[in-house]
Amino acid sequence: MALFSVGNLFRDNVIRFVPAASRASSWWSGVEMGPPDAILGVTEAFKRDSNPQKMNLGVGAYRSDEGKPFVLPSVRKAEEIMMAASHDKEYLPITGLADFTKAAAILAFGDNSETVSRNLNITSQGISGTGSLRIGANFLQRYYPGNKQVFLPTPSWGNHTPIFNHAGLQLGAYRYYDKSTCGFDKAGCLEDISKIPEGSIILLHACAHNPTGVDPKPEDWKELSHLIKKKKLYPFFDMAYQGFASGDIDRDAYALRLFLQDGHQLMLAQSFAKNMGLYGERAGAFTIVCETEEEMKRVESQVKITIRPIYSNPPVHGARIAATILNTPDLRKEWLVDVKHMADRIINMREMLVANLKKEGSTLDWSHVTDQIGMFCFTGLKPEQVERITKEFSVYLTKDGRISVAGISSSNNAYLAHAIHQVTK
Ligand code: LMR
Repeated sequence: MALFSVGNLFRDNVIRFVPAASRASSWWSGVEMGPPDAILGVTEAFKRDSNPQKMNLGVGAYRSDEGKPFVLPSVRKAEEIMMAASHDKEYLPITGLADFTKAAAILAFGDNSETVSRNLNITSQGISGTGSLRIGANFLQRYYPGNKQVFLPTPSWGNHTPIFNHAGLQLGAYRYYDKSTCGFDKAGCLEDISKIPEGSIILLHACAHNPTGVDPKPEDWKELSHLIKKKKLYPFFDMAYQGFASGDIDRDAYALRLFLQDGHQLMLAQSFAKNMGLYGERAGAFTIVCETEEEMKRVESQVKITIRPIYSNPPVHGARIAATILNTPDLRKEWLVDVKHMADRIINMREMLVANLKKEGSTLDWSHVTDQIGMFCFTGLKPEQVERITKEFSVYLTKDGRISVAGISSSNNAYLAHAIHQVTK
């Protein structure tokens, strides 16, 4: 189990005070060049490449089978409805659009959720998944009464560490991914969690774990829930891919709903970037489940106080799209078809990639490519192989060997298989 200190992680981004006498003409001469973002920096490098066969498998952004950004037909229809309604552009309340936050909570917790019907949840709009996590991180930093240390799975999404770190929380880690099987390290995970100090915070990926695409099975989740309860850990769920993993929104919410059923009080960050394709709209939601409605009201007041000095109140357009879809029964049905279409195309690309690797003559075991789920595949490519595939084939991916399967199409799947085989044979 690794513990990082805030000081360590901030080391490279420190702004040092330079006394006036020794200062160059600019106030900012002491600012050092930082590294490019591990995920978004890949897109920047991709854009600079002039190879017509280049592939961007870095950032998790869904593409159509023609390799183009995909606006969901249900989203287009929601926008038409919104245009006809001719909404004004007034500020939203600090916690956002109520039609959206209510619908987001029901989507997460289920149509017959007792948490929602008893008003136990404070759900606030957030700036997509990242912003929602950050509200949670800031709130925990100020009000969490237990051990202010967040334990992340190893590996976890690259932005989790800075989100919690910049909010001033300590980080820890628990084993999650087994390199030897490219699957879930159940024994290691349970062992590490059992050693986490009581009262700490544990971050869990609700489904379609990013970056590995490896999810615990339902029976594993039951054990995890039991252990986390026994250890009195506070679960913070990150659900950025509901519907995107299996194509079924209820199935993908299994772990979250199980934890609620098991009596955990929890926090939740939701993103609508992937499952509604609302990447640039920054539609997300942040929830804290409370013990009573009265407690929820007090917590809500402090969530507002947390948000107000950061961005005052959230943007309206994306939330209105999501609310229109979720609250219009016919449109909601269409959206579920759209989600399934995206999930199925990804599953199809995985199968095709394995078949193409075989055709190339690869004798390596690629079964993890189809076993893993969601947007990402943790290929097992080593950093030097990643470097080669980028240099020689203009295939862009993150250094850890993660590819966004949603960025592959039928027409470049074989090219990718060829490139992978060349650097792994
Ligand atoms: C990813 O992991 O690629 C996405 O969640 C996009 C991002 O912001 O990193």
